[in-house]
Amino acid sequence: MRRLATPHDLEAVFTIYMHERVVPFLGYDPMPLDEFRAIYKELVDSRCFYIYEDGGRVAGFYRATRYAGRVRHVACFGTLAVDPALHGKGIAHAMVSDAIAHLKADGVKRIELYVESDNAPGLRFYKKLGFECEGTLRKFYKRAGEAEYIDDQLLALLID
Ligand SMILES: CC(C)(COP(=O)(O)OP(=O)(O)OC[C@H]1O[C@@H](n2cnc3c(N)ncnc32)[C@H](O)[C@@H]1OP(=O)(O)O)[C@@H](O)C(=O)NCCC(=O)NCCS
Repeated sequence: MRRLATPHDLEAVFTIYMHERVVPFLGYDPMPLDEFRAIYKELVDSRCFYIYEDGGRVAGFYRATRYAGRVRHVACFGTLAVDPALHGKGIAHAMVSDAIAHLKADGVKRIELYVESDNAPGLRFYKKLGFECEGTLRKFYKRAGEAEYIDDQLLALLID
């Protein structure tokens, strides 16, 4: 079940976000909780950051933003992850399918997102859902402590 994130979810989101199998693929480098508070406040205040619950606990999260004007039929996923303790159980599939259904009901026709080229599970996951690669954003992403800039793939799904 999805719901908007609240300030009370800070620690649960922080724990998943900073997990060694998640943080390499999200927007910020590892940081202490106190530093994360401001980033988390922005996510909550955006009112487009959702918690996905499974069995009453925070199982995952995602942000779904909408563009405006002539591209208002387009949405963008970001800050998306599932608790690593629950990986491989179909949670992300259920979470993203539910998100797509909500966006479709809101008139969205196209959903796009960026995935790092070295995120094989992420790429496989989205392609299974029907997302297609539309291009490469060269040297788009850089992790602290790594010398290399990494390419991202632009993936998109068209929905009727
Ligand atoms: C990508 C990510 C969200 C997938 O989450 P997940 O909950 O493990 O995904 P699912 O379980 O729905 O599907 C993943 C795999 O489990 C398989 N699976 C689905 N249901 C399953 C079940 N009941 N039992 C076992 N495996 C299952 C899927 O077939 C899929 O297999 P595949 O990797 O061979 O394609 C997760 O790995 C993650 O949080 N990664 C870190 C952050 C990230 O990369 N975010 C995306 C970039 S924006």
